[in-house]
Parts: sequence; C-alpha cells; structure tokens
Amino acid sequence: MSKIFKEGGENKFTTSYIPDALPHREEQIEQLVNIISEGIELDAFMIPVLYGETGTGKTTTVIHVLNIINKKYMDKVKVRRINATTYSRSYLAVKALAQDIVPVPDRGLSIEEILNRLYDKLDIQDTYYVFAIDDADELVRREKGRILELLTRIEENYDRRLLYPIVVVRNIKYIDALPRHITSKLGGMRIHFPSYNKNQLKDILKERIEKGIKEGGITQNAIECATFNTEKLVGGNARELLHIILKAGKIAEKSDDPSINAEHVRQAVFETYSSTLSSGLTLSKEKDRNMRILWALYKAVQGKPDTYYIDDEILEKTFEIYSSTFHLEDLSKSDLPDILLDMAIYEVQNLITLDNGKLTIAHYPVNTVYNKLTQKLFF
Ligand SMILES: Nc1ncnc2c1ncn2[C@@H]1O[C@H](COP(=O)(O)OP(=O)(O)O)[C@@H](O)[C@H]1O
Ligand SMILES: [Mg+2]
Repeated sequence: MSKIFKEGGENKFTTSYIPDALPHREEQIEQLVNIISEGIELDAFMIPVLYGETGTGKTTTVIHVLNIINKKYMDKVKVRRINATTYSRSYLAVKALAQDIVPVPDRGLSIEEILNRLYDKLDIQDTYYVFAIDDADELVRREKGRILELLTRIEENYDRRLLYPIVVVRNIKYIDALPRHITSKLGGMRIHFPSYNKNQLKDILKERIEKGIKEGGITQNAIECATFNTEKLVGGNARELLHIILKAGKIAEKSDDPSINAEHVRQAVFETYSSTLSSGLTLSKEKDRNMRILWALYKAVQGKPDTYYIDDEILEKTFEIYSSTFHLEDLSKSDLPDILLDMAIYEVQNLITLDNGKLTIAHYPVNTVYNKLTQKLFF
C-alpha cells in the first residue's frame, strides 16, 4: 500500500480527473455561462473565443460550463465538446458534431447538407446545441476559418439560433488572421486564460492534495518547490504541475519515504526537464572560491532532503564546512549571504535562485549537484 497516495489518489493528478473547483477561473466560467445563457434566452449570441497557453484550464473550464448549461436547461439543450486536433478538416469536425444529433451517411453529403440536416433536426426537437471546438488552432489556421464561416452562415437561413459554438485556441493570432467577414461574426467576444503564477498554482493543488495524498504525505517545501518550478520553467502550466507532483510521489514511494519532500520534486523536475536545465550545471570557473562555497552549501544540505529555502542554519553550516575543509582565510561568514545572492543572480541561476526574494535550491537535485561539484573540485 502506498504511503503517499490515498487509494486511487494518483488519478487526481491526471487530466482525466475533473476537479470540483477551478480556482482563479471563476470569472471565465461566469462570463461563458452568461454568454451562452443570454444567447439561449435573449437570442443574442456571438461566438466566444477562449484563448491561453497550454495548461491554463481552458478545456476544464469548458467542461465545467457545459455541465452547468446542461443542468440549467435540461432537455432543451444538447452539449458537446470535440477536440479539433482529431479532425483534420472542417468537414470531419462538422460531421462529428452532427452525428450526435442526426444520422449522417458516410459519404455523399456536402458539408452544407449535413449542417442543414442537423439544423432541421434541432428545429424539430426544439433543442439548442451548445458545443465547444477545443484546440482549434490548426483547424482554423489551415482552412482559414471555414468551419466558423459555415456555422454562422447557416443561422442566416433560419429565423432562430440553435447552434452555439465555443471556440478554444492556444494562440489568438490565428483568429486575428481570419478574413474580416468571419471575425465580424465572431463579434470579438474573447475570454483570456492567463498563465498561473506560483500562488495560484498552490490554490489549484489544494483539492488534489486533499483528495489524492495521505495526511502528511507532502511537505510545504515540496509544494513551494513544485509551484515555483512550474511558474518559472513551464510558464504556469497546471498540467505540468500535477505531473511533477505525481512523479515526485512515485519517486518518494520508490525510496520508501513517508512524504514527498523538496528533493523528490527536484528529482522529478530534473527527470522531466533536464534538457531545458542542463546548461546550469556546466560551471565554467574551475576550482575557485565560488565553487568551493557551492560545494560546502550542497554538502550542508545533504541529508536534509526537504530543504528548499537557504536559511540561517544552512548558511551557518555551509560556513563551518567551508572553513573546516579548506582552511582558507578568504571567506568571512558575514559575506556569505551576499556572495550567494550574487551567484544566484549572475552566475548559477539554475542551482541557487531567488523565489520571492528568498534564496532557494529550486531546480537541481542536491545529490546530483553535490557529486558533480565534488568531481570538479577534488578530482
Ligand atoms: N483553475 C484550475 N483549478 C484546478 N485544476 C486546474 C485548473 N486549471 C487547470 N487545471 C488542471 O490542469 C490540467 C490542465 O488543464 P486544461 O483544462 O487541460 O488546460 P488547457 O485546456 O488550457 O491546456 C487539468 O488536469 C486541469 O484539471
Ligand atoms: Mg485543452
């Protein structure tokens, strides 16, 4: 049995798990619910475009909103989300959307005919069809917005609106590049999904930790370290954060530790992003004082795997190790914090770095660095 995860807890860190709450997306959810509700109730609808980087909660928000709409209007609506990357052409996407409502023969029908069938069926059933075209970047780019043109044009032949598309893209520039006659129909309703910062990522993590990890199964420093890395290395992508925690949890399990600590997180980060990080480990200056200081620091932290912030106690110990190992008079204790600060800013940002003004060991696993420094200094 896992010491770290609750039963089935690992699943809370995968994308198949839909969280109960979406912290920091309340506004986007409300906006989208309003746009669709007003569309249905007041017959005033312009296609909204949701946009933001990967892992900013677009898909999850859409799923939430579709659930809300489904509950709110019950049998008056049908909701659906398609992932546009599955459909290379507008024809296939439209067919997939229509097939949920009305049978579509495999071949023989034009895209307009399919849409007409769909519309007629919705009309007879008196149903509003609310659907999201998720990850639509490629589809929109490749066919210059054809799908949007078709979806809006068909409405013009009927006296009421039954189709309520929502478009989701990573990059708004493909929408901006569309011809005027299409963008004007979109109406400019845009909902931005900004990347999450460290504190927002912490809020997102709360529900997963409560539901997926045992009491005491993760330390505060591990959370600080994981959220900091996610903001800095992968631009606040929540999916990556969950992935890092899951991986760190498995590393902790493997080493039979009682909780996920900062070092497990660093190992998970290192395994996942080592290609992005690697430059930081190539220390240029050979055997100089700064390298000796770093070595002493990493030695001080060894055996304290949950270290994230470099506090006074660690500074003290670093100085002790430095003095007793090298017996040199070239370092005074009071200078140590400033020297490390300098290094964090100018020299070895990937080894020691600043998180909200505090010195931290954020990215590299302590053991990896310690061994490398030992090699450089003594061999
Ligand atoms: N605000 C949030 N609260 C809780 N979980 C979130 C939030 N935003 C994103 N996530 C989670 O992060 C992962 C990525 O989100 P997703 O909606 O797939 O992003 P996108 O579609 O923008 O790439 C999912 O597992 C999702 O549940
Ligand atoms: Mg998505």
